[in-house]
Amino acid sequence: MRDVLRDVPTDDATIVDAPCGDGSISFWLIKYGIGKQFELYDISEHSINVARRMHDWGGAKDLDLTIEVSDVHDVPVNGHANDVWLLINSLYLLPDIDRLVDRMRDRAKTIIAVFPNVASKNYQKFISQIPDMNINEMSVDDTIAFFAKHGYKLDDKRDMDCIPLNYFKSKYTKLSACYILNLFERVLPGKEKCYWIARFSREE
Ligand SMILES: C[S@@+](CC[C@H](N)C(=O)[O-])C[C@H]1O[C@@H](n2cnc3c(N)ncnc32)[C@H](O)[C@@H]1O
Repeated sequence: MRDVLRDVPTDDATIVDAPCGDGSISFWLIKYGIGKQFELYDISEHSINVARRMHDWGGAKDLDLTIEVSDVHDVPVNGHANDVWLLINSLYLLPDIDRLVDRMRDRAKTIIAVFPNVASKNYQKFISQIPDMNINEMSVDDTIAFFAKHGYKLDDKRDMDCIPLNYFKSKYTKLSACYILNLFERVLPGKEKCYWIARFSREE
């Protein structure tokens, strides 16, 4: 993600992380000194409370962050035109993505987005377990075409590794597998490129 953000000017821009979940991605960027102003939104009050606790405990204490419960479709868009929208692993579950991206275009000059690679084995396994999870299933080409339709061009795209935890049913096997695969990630072929990350910029 740092590579994909490399050429994006983040000093004057607000990074809008929506949906942010527990905010780990933003806090990770802050840890690496990327970005000065952040707005984090998620519909889950529980996740937002976790994000607020991370703000208090982490190295982000002195940064002025907005962390609010909000539907991503209601994120404020007025007053800023050159922001960075982090759309991480969420497009697949959002109900009205045409309206969402049209609305965010006023605000987001850049979109950094992570998507599941629907052709990967890990994704196929996941979707066989939870068939209704992806309400917007799109291939890589379909996704790029979707953003083009909404006035964004692709600047950068990379595959991302993921430990295929969906193969492990029980929570404890998952945790053990995660721990073991992480320890030996350089020598075990345990990871598959099952996500991809993209940087889009608004056509002016
Ligand atoms: C898979 S998580 C990804 C969260 C975060 N981007 C990350 O990578 O950790 C999807 C998130 O979308 C949130 N969500 C679902 N529908 C939403 C909506 N309409 N508006 C805002 N957040 C929503 C969920 O609460 C959840 O935290």
